[in-house]
Amino acid sequence: MDTLEEINVKGFAEEEIDPSLDLFAEIEKLKKEKNAVILAHYYQEPDIQDIADYIGDSLGLSQQAAKTDADIIVFAGVHFMAETAKILSPSKKVLLPDLKAGCSLADSCPAHLFKRFKEAYPNHLVITYVNCTAELKAMSDIVCTSSNAVQIVESLPKDQKIIFGPDKNLGAYVAKKTGRDLVLWNGACMVHEIFSREKITRLKERHPGAKLLAHPECEDAILKMADYIGSTTGILKYASGHPDKEFIVATEAGIIHQMQKENPDKTFIPAPPNNNCACNDCPHMKRNTLEKLYLCIKNEMPEIYVPQDIIEKAVKPIERMLSISARLGL
Ligand code: 13P
Ligand code: SF4
Repeated sequence: MDTLEEINVKGFAEEEIDPSLDLFAEIEKLKKEKNAVILAHYYQEPDIQDIADYIGDSLGLSQQAAKTDADIIVFAGVHFMAETAKILSPSKKVLLPDLKAGCSLADSCPAHLFKRFKEAYPNHLVITYVNCTAELKAMSDIVCTSSNAVQIVESLPKDQKIIFGPDKNLGAYVAKKTGRDLVLWNGACMVHEIFSREKITRLKERHPGAKLLAHPECEDAILKMADYIGSTTGILKYASGHPDKEFIVATEAGIIHQMQKENPDKTFIPAPPNNNCACNDCPHMKRNTLEKLYLCIKNEMPEIYVPQDIIEKAVKPIERMLSISARLGL
């Protein structure tokens, strides 16, 4: 087994795994023994989605993390998500299969620079998209996710001045939907920025009946073409509830696993990116594997630590988001 130092360098613990082991059965056994729960995001690989106790979008995952009575939360997602779970349930052990499962969007907004940005706009309320570090959340007034950002902005007085970060695309979408003038941080997600408008146009010509479903982290040019815009859960619900049979999916391709499971008779086409890569996989989300998940639950590491002072500050804007969402039935 690797030392803690080696785990910090590589992001995960390496250990020989007997190839004859049934990892699904082993993980189930360990989950029971340790009273652990596996929370997974829709962008995780299919095996991980299939073994998870709960799969959801960022809001659903935060709600689950806040209410679980498990002793251990194994977070199959990225670092900011596991951090959010730790902030909401600080007495629990929160594990992430690969500590290096980060997020380009969270990386685009370092806390020391955001602090200066915030100082340049006094009298502004700070709303941060959950895809940011715990330090950034600690500097915020309200956190939001893609499924409640519009409603959270709408819940504030019309004359309230607002800074929105770190995603400029989600921010611009929220500004457009609410008619508010938001001050935006210039950050973006590497996966949602690569969709090609030209290639989607050509794809729509070949599939004239297909509906385009897009995540609000996509650029405006893609959102303008979309038939539906929403969070991963929103996209999944739209596809399952819609009578049409063909959909082009402009978000990370992992969501297609659940879309296909819920709708075996429908066709889901990943939106093409503007390079020659065939996939829309998030390299951070895909750092987690079933093997790493198994070792993580078995050895109870890598574990997420958030300094106590940051937990105390960051929990307030997250709880504010959860209570607004609960009030609105989200
Ligand atoms: P949601 O699942 O909340 O829509 O977020 C998407 C995302 O990019 C997570 O990293
Ligand atoms: Fe971050 Fe984008 Fe990956 Fe989501 S898909 S974790 S926003 S890099």
